[in-house]
Amino acid sequence: MERVYIFDTTLRDGEQAPGFSMTTEEKLQMALQLARLGVDVIEAGFAAASKGDFEAVKLIAEEVKGPVICSLARALEKDIELAAQALEGAERKRIHTFIATSEIHMKYKLRLPPEEVLERAEKAVAFARRFTDDVEFSCEDATRSQREFLYRIIERAIKAGATVINIPDTVGYAVPEEFAQLIEDIRNNVPNIDKAIISVHCHDDLGMAVANSLMAIKHGARQVECTINGIGERAGNAALEEIVMALKVRKDFFGGLYTNINTKELYKTSRLLCRITGSFVPPNKAVVGDNAFAHESGIHQHGVLSNPLTYEIMSPEDVGFPSTRIVLGKHSGRHALKSKLKEMGYELSEEEIDKIFEKFKALADKKKEVYEEDLEAIIYEEVMKI
Ligand code: KIV
Ligand code: ZN
Repeated sequence: MERVYIFDTTLRDGEQAPGFSMTTEEKLQMALQLARLGVDVIEAGFAAASKGDFEAVKLIAEEVKGPVICSLARALEKDIELAAQALEGAERKRIHTFIATSEIHMKYKLRLPPEEVLERAEKAVAFARRFTDDVEFSCEDATRSQREFLYRIIERAIKAGATVINIPDTVGYAVPEEFAQLIEDIRNNVPNIDKAIISVHCHDDLGMAVANSLMAIKHGARQVECTINGIGERAGNAALEEIVMALKVRKDFFGGLYTNINTKELYKTSRLLCRITGSFVPPNKAVVGDNAFAHESGIHQHGVLSNPLTYEIMSPEDVGFPSTRIVLGKHSGRHALKSKLKEMGYELSEEEIDKIFEKFKALADKKKEVYEEDLEAIIYEEVMKI
């Protein structure tokens, strides 16, 4: 049984997305909840990005115990110094330094020749090691980088002291099989790769961030970078709750890999983020969406009421979700109606239930959901004749 480390970047990559910025106090509140959730690493921010980010990393480093606290830093001495300064109060700290490795990024963004990028990466890692022995190196835009160059830069970063090598799919370009192969190739072609943990960081531009992350884990990655509710740049990052539950529910497929996450805290963490940022989760969102454990159709309701496992592959309690929700609507059957009436405390004859069912169906055709108050009105009219 091997552990997969959960690196949460809600407060860094997640916060970078439009509409998700948080105050220092809000970030602290979120970080405390992430610690309760059991994440291994909290990327608290990008200390050099702004005074506010620096303060947030500093406060989280001082106040949050348990997870490793991390700050992002470009491969520049001044960024790394600021990260180290902000992290001073941390029980355990990590500096995460990165540089772009794809031709397009090196040419148009960095305006640096590849050899200079190699030098900078090596120097940055060695410099970061002066402040902590936990240094992560990321090859930004790894999935669009030239393969041999990627191997070389990873080798140099490990030699310089990187303990975690992160492979980001920065623009969400990869597809699962190809990404899995990239991880395999890195494991087979980079000397001393076993001295570092391989991490992945996937974006969701083509809706494959979670699938790509999971395939990378299956092929040897042991740290996964993700965010609560999948928030992040553009279409977002891989959703933490989906990765964690996929590993848990499909332990058989993933060879018993496990995480340290207390899954019962997932729903609460998701909703705390919503409250803080004023965002919402789509109802059909996997694991934490309002409909994740809701059933409206008669066939499904009958199944779930007889045995929840017929249509639920995990239980709502496992993720801290309030409970399975039987939604009464136009697709619902008599079985669900009868169970609801019983739950509401009504002992009715089969004949009475038939009458109520007929009225209920007529009403359900006119509105999206039939509530307890609607049923009460029908009962008063049809049974009590009030
Ligand atoms: O997407 C990305 O490449 C990043 C890196 C800084 C890790 O966020
Ligand atoms: Zn990213």
